[in-house]
Amino acid sequence: MNATIIGSQFGDEGKGGLVDVLAADADVVVRYQGGANAGHTVAHGEDTYKLRLIPSGVVQGAVGVLGNGCVVDLDTLFDEVDRLRERGLDPDVRVAACAHVVAPFHRFADRAAESAAADEEAIGTTGNGIGPAYEAKAGRYGIRVGDLVEPEHLRARVDAAVSRTRRVAEADFDAETTVNRGEAETTDDGGTATAIDTDDAFDPDPITDSLLTFGDRLESEGMIVDAGAFLTERHRAGETILFEGAQGTQIDVDFGTYPFVTSSNPTAGGAIVGTGVSPRAVADGHVVGVVKGYLSRVGNGPMPTEMDDERAATVRELVGGFGTVTGRPRRMGWLDLPMVRHAARVNGFTGLALTHVDTLAAFDEIRVCTAYELDGERVADVPSTIPAWERCEPVYESVETWSADDWGRIAESGYDALPDGARAFVAFLEDQLDVPVVAIGVGPGRDETIVRRNPLAGQQIDTEGRPT
Ligand code: GDP
Ligand code: IMO
Ligand code: MG
Repeated sequence: MNATIIGSQFGDEGKGGLVDVLAADADVVVRYQGGANAGHTVAHGEDTYKLRLIPSGVVQGAVGVLGNGCVVDLDTLFDEVDRLRERGLDPDVRVAACAHVVAPFHRFADRAAESAAADEEAIGTTGNGIGPAYEAKAGRYGIRVGDLVEPEHLRARVDAAVSRTRRVAEADFDAETTVNRGEAETTDDGGTATAIDTDDAFDPDPITDSLLTFGDRLESEGMIVDAGAFLTERHRAGETILFEGAQGTQIDVDFGTYPFVTSSNPTAGGAIVGTGVSPRAVADGHVVGVVKGYLSRVGNGPMPTEMDDERAATVRELVGGFGTVTGRPRRMGWLDLPMVRHAARVNGFTGLALTHVDTLAAFDEIRVCTAYELDGERVADVPSTIPAWERCEPVYESVETWSADDWGRIAESGYDALPDGARAFVAFLEDQLDVPVVAIGVGPGRDETIVRRNPLAGQQIDTEGRPT
């Protein structure tokens, strides 16, 4: 049995927390796309882990795999491995030989593109070099993890990648690629983002040296694998695999609010091409969409249900609405069901995990967008162009609010202990979306997720997500 966990919205829905809960029953947890743009939070007792690359399931002791669809910043990866070890964990992390490497020049190009863009055109990326690394992959001048243990071959790959990225940065973004551009930045989780020193960012010698050093470490720790073969073998041996999506459906490069998206496919198909596990094996499981009870977005792009500044500020006060990776204030909006409907269709959700039911309890009003008015018509799904998105007017329903004092006790007692309003909200979503809500988050901690039907427990839920 396996399950794929996918963000239904703009990211930060609570995927890491759900993966942590389900990982108690999993042997292997695999990330299939994205890179250090992700920030997945695992909270248990006094401990909080913010993971950017290492799959969240390693905290529960599962083997973590970064599939070929990921773009891997090795500085960040080893920083995470070392920090988890310092905290007493023993993460077993494998990286696909075919995964691509994020190098300093990718981060530079990402930030150069963003600073050269007019305000309304900037994507608002996380600045981690994700777009340029995927551009290099599709453009066939990328560097793969397997290249790091082949010194001569690596040098040729680095030379090609540096010169192409540099040409683009200079010609398209008017970037100065020969001066030192910056200091190391401290991220909100206490880590250190790598300094963009352009002397190094475009200098093949130190880049090759540092990549070879990473290659040595990857090899000596036995971390490089053929991910497809590794995972398939484990699957055939009857082990349980969790596919951990990063980002969310609305920022998928194909199914999101293009061009205000990330450069990978967080959607279910990504789990297949991003791991090398056969479509039949991936589909022989459950696909759980994580839905936050309200919306937040870090970065630019359409968001029809965006709250006005005053209400957004109030909500931000309540929920601490700042990006896990960038620390930027999150834009706030009401739950948007056309988006979730779209996500349910694209991903074939067999179940939903509704998070932040406790957070919603602090709202004095809860609105839900059930449809859009677009050019005089009522539509239930999302449009595909930015101008059409901008013409979408949300149609709202207000739902009954709820309150509770002791979410810990509610979580322990189970679904029936939820306040009436919260249960009515769950029923309303199931009715609107025609997908069962299989898990409910009432707090950030591992023990604060009510699992109604565990997708990894097999018989409790059929392939349509219905209880058996
Ligand atoms: P991810 O990127 O989808 O893994 O989500 P993030 O970790 O970036 O952001 C989710 C934030 O909400 C984290 O701080 C989580 O600990 C927190 N969180 C997740 N689920 C719940 C929930 O049900 N209630 C509350 N209060 N916090 C939650
Ligand atoms: P998790 O996995 C929220 C957003 C960025 C930006 C756009 C493109 O924690 O849910 P990129 O750096 O990927 O080129 O930026 O995507 N973004 C995220 N927003 N959560 C994430 O990951 C995100 N990863 C990227 O803010 O709008
Ligand atoms: Mg996040």
